[in-house]
Amino acid sequence: MMEQNIKKVFIEKFGTIPLMVKSPGRINLIGEHTDYNGGFVLPAAIDKYAFVATQKRDDEGIHLFSVDFNESLETSITGLSTNGMHWPVYILGVVDQLVKSKYHITGFNLVLSGNVPIGAGLSSSASVECATVFALNELFNLGISKIEMVKMAQKSEHEFAGVKCGIMDQFASMFGQENKLIRLDCRSLEFEYFPFNMAGLKLVLLDTHVKHSLASSAYNQRRAQCEKGVAIIQQHQPQVHSLRDANLQMLDQYVLPEDELVFRRCKYVVNEIERTINACVDLQKNDFISFGKKMFQTHEGLSKEYEVSCAELDFLIDQVKDNNAVLGARMMGGGFGGCTINVINENTVPELIEDLTEKYKIETGKNLSAYIVSVQNGTELIV
Ligand code: GLA
Repeated sequence: MMEQNIKKVFIEKFGTIPLMVKSPGRINLIGEHTDYNGGFVLPAAIDKYAFVATQKRDDEGIHLFSVDFNESLETSITGLSTNGMHWPVYILGVVDQLVKSKYHITGFNLVLSGNVPIGAGLSSSASVECATVFALNELFNLGISKIEMVKMAQKSEHEFAGVKCGIMDQFASMFGQENKLIRLDCRSLEFEYFPFNMAGLKLVLLDTHVKHSLASSAYNQRRAQCEKGVAIIQQHQPQVHSLRDANLQMLDQYVLPEDELVFRRCKYVVNEIERTINACVDLQKNDFISFGKKMFQTHEGLSKEYEVSCAELDFLIDQVKDNNAVLGARMMGGGFGGCTINVINENTVPELIEDLTEKYKIETGKNLSAYIVSVQNGTELIV
């Protein structure tokens, strides 16, 4: 098992018994690009994790080792440097936040490993951030609450990784619960767990293996476009602070005449916030037919109005949209690659995966990976 291996590696390298934490990746059923607009999301933690093993040092040194990349980094609290490597960003970003918030920590050794596919839209970065902040909070007895840890992890992504992400990924990784979806109001941060019982249905992720190099700059640009829309509305309606407060009429009246592109972006978001609220009503009624239709609508909006899809994702959605065994499907996460999420009749899953894998290969020349997901607990100590 991965956690046994990482413990062994830690002991071999550093000669002490580590404290160990695991933190999951996430899915999101519906509510995409709504979190940074004060809207709702419906994520859950999944059975894929970042594992962290760590122990204090006597000096200011930070000695890191990634099992998966087989790379080491030695840096220190007083001069945090990633040495141009990518994986340490998500560890050091969190350390940077702890230091800025004046938490007292000394140096530490840390070994990282994980099985959240990287760049697949399953929030591998949030899983590493949450695992790290949780582990350091335990190790140094810092007494930070879970919600504060989530906010620090999000901020580390803004300031150290340069992605102006919303709060969904870190929240889901930290607060996930087995067999529960989380409906999170990203404006108030109030949340509710929804039992997740899709009798006869399975959640299947189809990984395009497309990793878009421009994803983070395009993400920040989308966020800026939403902010521009809000600023335009605010000139007329000062009580509007985010797209959560806006409606389609305001967009038509104020935004459309000024900026058609910004209008389209905002229209998607305003519709998606509303759709997510309604999808939660479907969920309460166990009406996955209606829920699934909304997922397809979300995809349409993400592809045509928000323009964060790509040919491979669109192909996978096109292939399933007239298939009665697939109740709902859409691209998931930030976009420009990664996975689609599909709600599928259980008994048709193997056949469908086989069929799509073949078609995807012919269409794109790429391999398709399928993950059948189970919903699990959020960040926790491994004892
Ligand atoms: C990424 C971000 C999240 C969220 C999604 C889109 O995963 O990290 O905060 O904005 O994209 O819903």
